[in-house]
Amino acid sequence: MANQIVPTPELLTYVRDVSLRDDDILRGLREETAQLPGGTAFQVLAEEGQLLALLVGLAGARTVLEIGTYTGYSTLCMARALPADGTVVTCDITDRWPAVGAEYWKRDGSDARIDLRVGEAADTMDGLLAERGPGSFDLAFIDADKANYGTYYEKALALTRPGGLVVIDNTLYFGRVVDPADDDADTTAIRELNAFLSRDDRVDLSLLPMADGITLARKR
Ligand SMILES: C[S@@+](CC[C@H](N)C(=O)[O-])C[C@H]1O[C@@H](n2cnc3c(N)ncnc32)[C@H](O)[C@@H]1O
Repeated sequence: MANQIVPTPELLTYVRDVSLRDDDILRGLREETAQLPGGTAFQVLAEEGQLLALLVGLAGARTVLEIGTYTGYSTLCMARALPADGTVVTCDITDRWPAVGAEYWKRDGSDARIDLRVGEAADTMDGLLAERGPGSFDLAFIDADKANYGTYYEKALALTRPGGLVVIDNTLYFGRVVDPADDDADTTAIRELNAFLSRDDRVDLSLLPMADGITLARKR
């Protein structure tokens, strides 16, 4: 039986060297984000952005919902992977950080495929359900405040079409999910969602131990 490999820093560098497709716009947005107070800690890894783009293509997605824009790196990766008439609806509680990314969306020519909604994510999702109806998205990516992940998952599942994909970031939460002493609200919410997902027969499931843990839930 094969074992799960434990990635060393050398191996992660190798993976990046042999698989990352990078360019000046993506690199520029990562570098500008690194100068912000929150830095790149909130941003998906470049490898994860590339995976998201691949998933958008695999899902044949035209409509993508993103919960948690920050400086719009994952937004840009997904928008690029859409057909010309596709849309990423991305939402954030503030327009301060998305404004940084908007410059890069424009420079890339992806801005016409990006619809930024500013406000509480749960309210935005309720608004989208009323506006577009259930099953109106091909793929949803959840990457915002962790304590509300359970709420976002349910709303995202309602908004995703059967056969569509819900992608959830940070589901290993820096390894804190397996620390019994860690009972803060964020860790608890992620642990509870992971346990719930393991027996949620509305979806097919995989938790990838990549980056900070990426869960793929395909709606049946
Ligand atoms: C981890 S960052 C998103 C990173 C982004 N996906 C990327 O890869 O660049 C989380 C974002 O969620 C936003 N956020 C936090 N709480 C929120 C809420 N209640 N509603 C909407 N957005 C929220 C934060 O402002 C932050 O920009």
